[in-house]
Amino acid sequence: MPNFINPELVPKHKLYTGQKIPCIGMGTFGSDRFTPEQVSEAVGGAIRSGYRLFDCAAIYGNEDLIGGVFKDAFDKGVVRREELFIISKVWNDMHEPENVLNSIKKTLMDLQLDDVDAYVIHWPFRNYHAPGCDGDARNPDSKPFSVDDFIATWRQMEELVRMGLAKTLGMSNMTIPKLEAVLPLCKIKPALIEMELHPSFQQEELFNYCVEREILPVGFCPIGSPTRPDRDKTPDDVVDTQIPEILEIAKVHNVHPAIICLKWAVQRGQIPIPFSVHENEYISNLRSTIEAPLTDEEMAIIKSVDRNCRLIKGQVFLWEEAKGWEDLWDLDGSITK
Ligand SMILES: NC(=O)c1ccc[n+]([C@@H]2O[C@H](COP(=O)([O-])OP(=O)(O)OC[C@H]3O[C@@H](n4cnc5c(N)ncnc54)[C@H](OP(=O)(O)O)[C@@H]3O)[C@@H](O)[C@H]2O)c1
Repeated sequence: MPNFINPELVPKHKLYTGQKIPCIGMGTFGSDRFTPEQVSEAVGGAIRSGYRLFDCAAIYGNEDLIGGVFKDAFDKGVVRREELFIISKVWNDMHEPENVLNSIKKTLMDLQLDDVDAYVIHWPFRNYHAPGCDGDARNPDSKPFSVDDFIATWRQMEELVRMGLAKTLGMSNMTIPKLEAVLPLCKIKPALIEMELHPSFQQEELFNYCVEREILPVGFCPIGSPTRPDRDKTPDDVVDTQIPEILEIAKVHNVHPAIICLKWAVQRGQIPIPFSVHENEYISNLRSTIEAPLTDEEMAIIKSVDRNCRLIKGQVFLWEEAKGWEDLWDLDGSITK
């Protein structure tokens, strides 16, 4: 199998801003398991393999090494800056006035770029946890979602577009009630929204809500995040790559079940951002977008395996009075106070 996939062959979406973005990208969160060196080396290999979209974030703790890899690829003529679509995200502890600008400045310095293609609010809360803390830890300063706080942060994000530091903006870990509250107040509409999306967690309503508004869903944990941090694992979690229907379709296509999850994601219309430090995996993930599409019947079967199984529950962002992780996700249709 050739280890280069011509990026021209990989389908693209057009954002409402006119920017083009590949239908698949590479995630860069090492999940407290993979070192910044391993992740950045994989980014270098991914660029050489034909990846053109990378999902970065300050909190992943590896933007400085990834920046070195980008620079090296530009210097050696492997790729030009304008051929890459680079996402980064502001972490929860940098939402205060001035800090969003400070955050992107640090990211741009680390990534060695003049701008990012999309800058995203990572979580719609100013709540944060100590790195590596356990799942039950609660920060006494944490608070429920606040429209005013979020919009104050968004105004700073909008300023970054005006300053030319971000080409467009995105949100992440949002719910429909939160979007209903904030979208009418946005001067710049988000062009993309990151959300957890995999066969056992399809978020049909949120997905459709975004698509109807010309906001592109970017799906994280597209393979069901088998290597996610232990704090994000619970005994009831569904393992996407072991769902019998997925295994059956994988057998027919003679591929790993992970590939079926990605084909489903791409054909449904979200952008999956699978992570892997293994060359054989990340190359086959990219190749999955250009060959042997799933049939309509296979797509319908996968639609039926949704188990509403959220994996990244976000419990470390809860405030003291919160009852449980469900409070982050507005399950009753209104913003949890
Ligand atoms: N916005 C947000 O809040 C948010 C939250 C979470 C994640 N993300 C982003 O989404 C990205 C992806 O999510 P994720 O890393 O949690 O989950 P994921 O992509 O669903 O799963 C990654 C794991 O799947 C396995 N894998 C990948 N390709 C494979 C293949 N072809 N065959 C077999 N196994 C394969 C690898 O495990 P092995 O090493 O064991 O093979 C890898 O570590 C992150 O890196 C990050 O950029 C964003």
